[in-house]
Amino acid sequence: MSCPDPHSHADLSQGRVRSLDLDLTVDFDTSRIRGRAEFELDAPTTGPLDLDSRGLEIERVTADGNDVSWDLGDLDPVLGSRLRLDLPADTDSFVVHYATGPEASALQWLEPAMTAGGEHPYLFSQCQAIHARSVIPCQDTPLARFTFKARITVPEALTVVMAAAPGEAGPGADPGTRTFAFSMPQSIPPYLFALAVGNLVSQDLGPRSRVYTEPEMLEKSAWEFADVDKMLLAAEDIFGPYLWDRFDFLVMPPSFPYGGMENPRLTFLTPTLLAGDRSLVNVLAHELAHSWTGNLVTNATIDDFWLNEGFTVWAERRILENLEGAEAKSLSAAIGRNGLTEAIADFGEDSPFTRLLTDGKGKDPDEFYSLVPYEKGFLLVSLLEQTVGVEKFDAFVKKYIKHFGFTSITTAQFEEFLEAELPGVAAQVDTKRWIHDVGLPDNAPVFASARLEKLESLARGWESGTRPDVQEAKAWTPEDWQIFLQALPKELSHADCAWLDKNFELTGQGNSEILSNWLVIAVNSGYEPSFERAAAMVAEVGRMKYLKPLYTALHAGEKTRALAA
Ligand code: BES
Ligand code: ZN
Repeated sequence: MSCPDPHSHADLSQGRVRSLDLDLTVDFDTSRIRGRAEFELDAPTTGPLDLDSRGLEIERVTADGNDVSWDLGDLDPVLGSRLRLDLPADTDSFVVHYATGPEASALQWLEPAMTAGGEHPYLFSQCQAIHARSVIPCQDTPLARFTFKARITVPEALTVVMAAAPGEAGPGADPGTRTFAFSMPQSIPPYLFALAVGNLVSQDLGPRSRVYTEPEMLEKSAWEFADVDKMLLAAEDIFGPYLWDRFDFLVMPPSFPYGGMENPRLTFLTPTLLAGDRSLVNVLAHELAHSWTGNLVTNATIDDFWLNEGFTVWAERRILENLEGAEAKSLSAAIGRNGLTEAIADFGEDSPFTRLLTDGKGKDPDEFYSLVPYEKGFLLVSLLEQTVGVEKFDAFVKKYIKHFGFTSITTAQFEEFLEAELPGVAAQVDTKRWIHDVGLPDNAPVFASARLEKLESLARGWESGTRPDVQEAKAWTPEDWQIFLQALPKELSHADCAWLDKNFELTGQGNSEILSNWLVIAVNSGYEPSFERAAAMVAEVGRMKYLKPLYTALHAGEKTRALAA
């Protein structure tokens, strides 16, 4: 049997790695991590064992102190290289001595200038979807869960954090170094492996939560996310007990490519969430919700990604409802619906990427990442909830988490469980169509918001001369602005841009959602006073949600193409 995951070389019928013991040294001079990884198998194994790797330099493989022969296959542009070990009879553990490549796709090595403090280098990982293999040789499929222990050695001025429980820290073997110990007793899929190294400090925010970041961002970060404990309680209300002991998070340097990443025990967050008004904390609620949907019940492969993200967006909006009320939830769902409509239009209504269950074989997951699994997934989960009623559905969700916790499941397994627990509901809502067909089924729930309607009709009237009342618009919330800007024509006249900018100081915005939406319009409109700010934003911020549209706009404009280059 080969691997059931099209994005991995691993063949789980050969054997399974149960735990890892890592001894690694981080070398900022060569941009490499070097060391040894000891693998424990869950049963004695003989013969070939295939691991994933990308750019790794394998130095030596041993079992019981004896050399094991190995072969590194050709580089596949999507999958990386298959590392085939030839294990002697009844091997239950083996050691790989290796170094990461300088271009490791999971790792960002930052010069001091790319950090808030500007004095120390920084390293962080982003393993989802299939980049763990560039940090450790592994069966890089969510079907292969493992626990681990790690000792990470770094220059003594720096601190290591991991998505794991911290242990002792002490002087490293070499002078001028320090070694940090960690353990992860709960099994994780490889994409949740994470570490960061930098000049880091922390502050407690609640009995189970603390924020880590560079000293320059600590106060702002602690203020922005002060409500984390309330979120935890709201999430436990939906899902049942939190099983990862602590929910800490790390506010990253601006080059972090996502809004947030649900690394267990240590969520990673973009600093673009530090709006100073707590308006973007939904991202924290989202990553928290993954502690159940994603980290406990994990998608079997990337093709089942909607199980992770659809359920998590549903839970994120339930947490929002709990903290801020029903109107906030509807508004958020309505914004999501706009995003979905746009994503489906971008792919084309008949595109296979508008299916919930995808076929990503041969394709790079980073290339087909979209809002479809998030927002179409959210609508299916919400439809199920509306069909059976909130109370019954909540009981179902709690049971789902308990039943599948710490396992990785396929969409078919979800469907089977749904039918067993809520017989007939799948047929009633036609889940088959939702899961396998392209586009959006017409029984999709509609989330209406009076506020949304008002703002959108105001924006749609722009071309016929409708303008917001300046005093009123000055008091709009960040969500209001986001909706209004998204509904405006993609290009405006120079005079219109100047009017908006003069009255609402959009180019000077500190809220990254408002700023990015505005800059895309301004750049598309050839509005010169915005160019410098737009160039500065793409140069600094790595969050792809902002980078892609803004860079596309800069590149498309004749006046800005050179700036983009
Ligand atoms: N797990 C994702 C981020 C991710 C997905 C990284 C796929 C790599 C591959 C995370 O939970 C996420 O969805 N982040 C969103 C947050 C938003 C939906 C609230 C983001 O970064 O924008
Ligand atoms: Zn997510």
